[in-house]
Amino acid sequence: MFRIGFVFVMLLCGILALSADQACAAGSTIKIGMIAEMTGSFSDFGFNIVNGAKAYMKEHGDTVAGKKIELIVKDVGGPSPEVAKRLAQELIVKDKVDFIAGFGFTPNALAVAPIITEAKMPTVIMNAATSIITTKSPYFVRVSMTLPQTTEPMAQWAHKNGYRKIYTLVADYGPGHDSEAAFKKAFTKLGGQVVGESRVPLKNPEFGPYVQRIKDSKPQAVFVFLPAGEMPVAFMKSYNERGLAKAGIKLLTTGDVMNDNVQDALGDHALGVISTHHYSVDHKSPENKAFLAAFAKIEPQRPNYMAVGGYDGMAAIYNVIKQLKGVIDGDKAMAAFKGMKLNSPRGPVLIDPATRDAIENIYVREVKKIGSHYYNVEFETFKAVKDPGK
Ligand code: PHB
Repeated sequence: MFRIGFVFVMLLCGILALSADQACAAGSTIKIGMIAEMTGSFSDFGFNIVNGAKAYMKEHGDTVAGKKIELIVKDVGGPSPEVAKRLAQELIVKDKVDFIAGFGFTPNALAVAPIITEAKMPTVIMNAATSIITTKSPYFVRVSMTLPQTTEPMAQWAHKNGYRKIYTLVADYGPGHDSEAAFKKAFTKLGGQVVGESRVPLKNPEFGPYVQRIKDSKPQAVFVFLPAGEMPVAFMKSYNERGLAKAGIKLLTTGDVMNDNVQDALGDHALGVISTHHYSVDHKSPENKAFLAAFAKIEPQRPNYMAVGGYDGMAAIYNVIKQLKGVIDGDKAMAAFKGMKLNSPRGPVLIDPATRDAIENIYVREVKKIGSHYYNVEFETFKAVKDPGK
């Protein structure tokens, strides 16, 4: 059916000879420019986001409303706001994209806000999770999460389960500051006490001294947010070497730290760690089964929550293209995103029409060994959680 629509548009363009007319000028292609971290020490961000998007296209085809969908992937490296800005400009001016998407890192998303506003460019955040991002441009929509959204349930779960003295350790930038503040606010409101706080730099952190400080302050637990990738693995190494688990200091984290990609590498060291997040590979649903099957056709490696962000972001974009019958206008596209419902691999998602952020379930999970592999097994659900950061 899409193929017939595609041929029809081609014929119409030919017959009417509408040289530079928008609907036909872009030919019959809709271009989606992706700004993602494809190389460097955070390359697993881009790997997951882009392959998640490709998995959606594999499953649903690459033609929508008669238009061929083209992905243009630009590598931003790591957290590099200046590069992100240049790439956004290039995508808009040179490649003439219809949508921009991607963004593992907050600083990259924040950097493009003035550019996408000026160009009225619908821009889909597939991971970057500092609460404030969507307030920086009316052309941002976020299908992923925010740190306050995943952190607050952890503070509530910890208090309900008897924890009263907790130390917090976060990465020293936007999402880390959000997470630290959200944890403290929710935990102290319930009567808990934050006995110490550490912020670690994004670049080459040496975790030993931080972890020793945590041990010395003798909390019942430590709550940790670090962006996925090498940092959580390095933290876990120090946590084990310095004997925190043996000292009875429980590890509570957001799902970024207990990322599905590194579970097998962490092995027994992470068994029993409790985390809160919007997605686990182990989530039991037909939608997740379909996602995992589609992803496996693209890459043999296990996907993580960023891959689901890429997949759901494409689902949202396909939905908008269908609603607009293939003729993309920035304001109409943003109106179409607002209030959209997605049957995500993580569960139901609603794009809040007021904030353009995802309202979704946040799950409490425990790392368990199933057969010869390690998983975040969900055991409790906070339903339809909104970003409490706004
Ligand atoms: C972010 O920079 O917003 C970010 C990066 C990685 C995460 C979460 C948030 O795992």
